[in-house]
Amino acid sequence: MRTERKRDMRIGILTSGGDCPGLNAVLRGFCKCAFNIMDDVEIYGFLEGYAGLMNRQYRRLSLADVENILDVGGTVLGTSRQPYKLMTVKEGDAPTKLQMMVENYKKLGLDCLVTLGGAGTHKTASLLSVEGCNVIGLPKTIDNDIYGTDVTFGFHTAVDIAAGAIKRIRTTADSHSRVFFVEVMGNKVGWLTLYAGLASGADCILIPEIAYDEDKLAGFIKGKKSSSRSVIVAVAEGVISAREAAMSKKERKEYLSQFGVATAAERLSAVMSQKTGMQCRSTILGHIQRGGEPCAYDKFISTEIGAFGAHLAKIGRFGVTVCVRGNKLGYNMLVDIAGKTKRVPSDGQLVLLAKDMGIYFGE
Ligand code: F6P
Repeated sequence: MRTERKRDMRIGILTSGGDCPGLNAVLRGFCKCAFNIMDDVEIYGFLEGYAGLMNRQYRRLSLADVENILDVGGTVLGTSRQPYKLMTVKEGDAPTKLQMMVENYKKLGLDCLVTLGGAGTHKTASLLSVEGCNVIGLPKTIDNDIYGTDVTFGFHTAVDIAAGAIKRIRTTADSHSRVFFVEVMGNKVGWLTLYAGLASGADCILIPEIAYDEDKLAGFIKGKKSSSRSVIVAVAEGVISAREAAMSKKERKEYLSQFGVATAAERLSAVMSQKTGMQCRSTILGHIQRGGEPCAYDKFISTEIGAFGAHLAKIGRFGVTVCVRGNKLGYNMLVDIAGKTKRVPSDGQLVLLAKDMGIYFGE
């Protein structure tokens, strides 16, 4: 990159952390808008997330690079997970990852760095901002757990995929008169499981925010099965039973080791088949929830978030991350939201209304 030419702005952009549908749509929205509203802007896409900034691996983006990627899943820039806790770790005389990024930001003459990512990406973005880089975050994740925004891009596509899959499970469960545990992504929060469970008519929704009681769950399954052919339990991958919650870390590790590498849904299936004597099965939806074309809503919101980010860059509003509140786009300060998690309130409207309909949450 040459630094001497006069220009409106030189922008670096990257996609970081787990991918999701909508990353390319945001990239497109940002670049199209930036090229349109700024006279002379250079945009450089860093490859493989923060790793590209650390190693100075990038390519200049033109309008042609982004014009046809609205529908394309994944990220054309590539991504990688770069754990936040390793950012400031010092190994001998070598600079830390954070120092490498700040140095490259300066060397490359960037005026702004745009980071498309989830909670971890935002923590690092905040660090970079505190170190003097002009950062704008754009909120991505199928988990929908970024603090201060109603929605993150990628979330609704994952809801569609998970809900569609659960509906399919219902027909085979009905045919065989079975109990199914369908595992949805979400290690720390249950937004995706809650939305997908509600949108697919699941009988029970288990999320990390509400510890479930094994015996009561078994009682619910038996009761439900007496009046319907199948029982569908939507399970967030990070669920925990009340029994496990009461254990120390060491005790929990020992307890879980009896199940080997079994996931939450597999463990539940094993335990519940023993407790109920019924035919239980588990299905893990996994990365299917992150793949493929974004849904129409994600294409729309990603485009808008990208374009809004370009406006923030133009006016020099840095140290922020874009958010959606109600029907409006806005922004939060990175330092205010970094490290915070938006959890499903267990006594919130969504959960209470679902309970009123007879959907069981395992308590
Ligand atoms: O953060 C998004 C997410 O899909 C989580 O729901 C899930 O726990 C995790 O990423 C899986 O990460 P990986 O793709 O690294 O296996």
